[in-house]
Amino acid sequence: MRRKLAAGNWKMNGDRAALAEIEQVAKAPSAAGVEVLICPPATLLAEAAARAAGTTVTIGGQDCHPAAAGAHTGDISAPMLADAGARAVILGHSERRADHGETSKLVRHKAEAAQAAGLVAIICVGETEAQRDDGTALDVVARQLAESLPDSAGAENTVLAYEPVWAIGTGRVPDTAQIAEMHSHLRARLAARLGTNVAQGIRILYGGSVKPGNATEIFATPNVDGALVGGASLKAGDFIPIIDALAAAG
Ligand code: PGA
Repeated sequence: MRRKLAAGNWKMNGDRAALAEIEQVAKAPSAAGVEVLICPPATLLAEAAARAAGTTVTIGGQDCHPAAAGAHTGDISAPMLADAGARAVILGHSERRADHGETSKLVRHKAEAAQAAGLVAIICVGETEAQRDDGTALDVVARQLAESLPDSAGAENTVLAYEPVWAIGTGRVPDTAQIAEMHSHLRARLAARLGTNVAQGIRILYGGSVKPGNATEIFATPNVDGALVGGASLKAGDFIPIIDALAAAG
């Protein structure tokens, strides 16, 4: 009942020549069987949306400002993302929390702005390696979720992404028991906050070093509804096998 989602996060990578990767992904037969979202840098959004038009691939942003407009030099608002053709936006990625000091409260305000603009908010949570080692990962992530999630969250406007900070860009991945434990914990926290019906509809993605070689195992894990993929989403040749694995996961 939860439609599987493969989301690509290009981060600060990609120029106009890279838009051809989107067209290649859109041609993959498996891309029609799941939801595929690609989040390129803001400079490419409008052109990416134009190239994806008429295909099953949709385009998203990587961040937005909590205000709809105003004197915020260098920022981009959620209505602007929507106007450029985005359908979703990644919020609270650990790189933004670390590099820009984003708090969960700010992430919640951004998510509210995104939802008000008709975008799906992909809210990221995840523990550091020190928090995993000292046994506080479940508590840390539950707190991030509680503080980052707007009360207006529902299946149609919110996706969660569990991204352990120590697994992002490192080639290290939690074992599937750890992923299953965290995703079931998140599902339970969602149910306590929003009710079982709403919680059952919200997709929870795993993110952090997802590659063609580990995707099948990750997608077989309970409560994993897809992936947020960084490095392996930059090339269609890497992203398509991940989409294939998701489509095959049933
Ligand atoms: P990675 O990044 O796949 O390169 O580890 C994932 C992410 O940060 O969303």
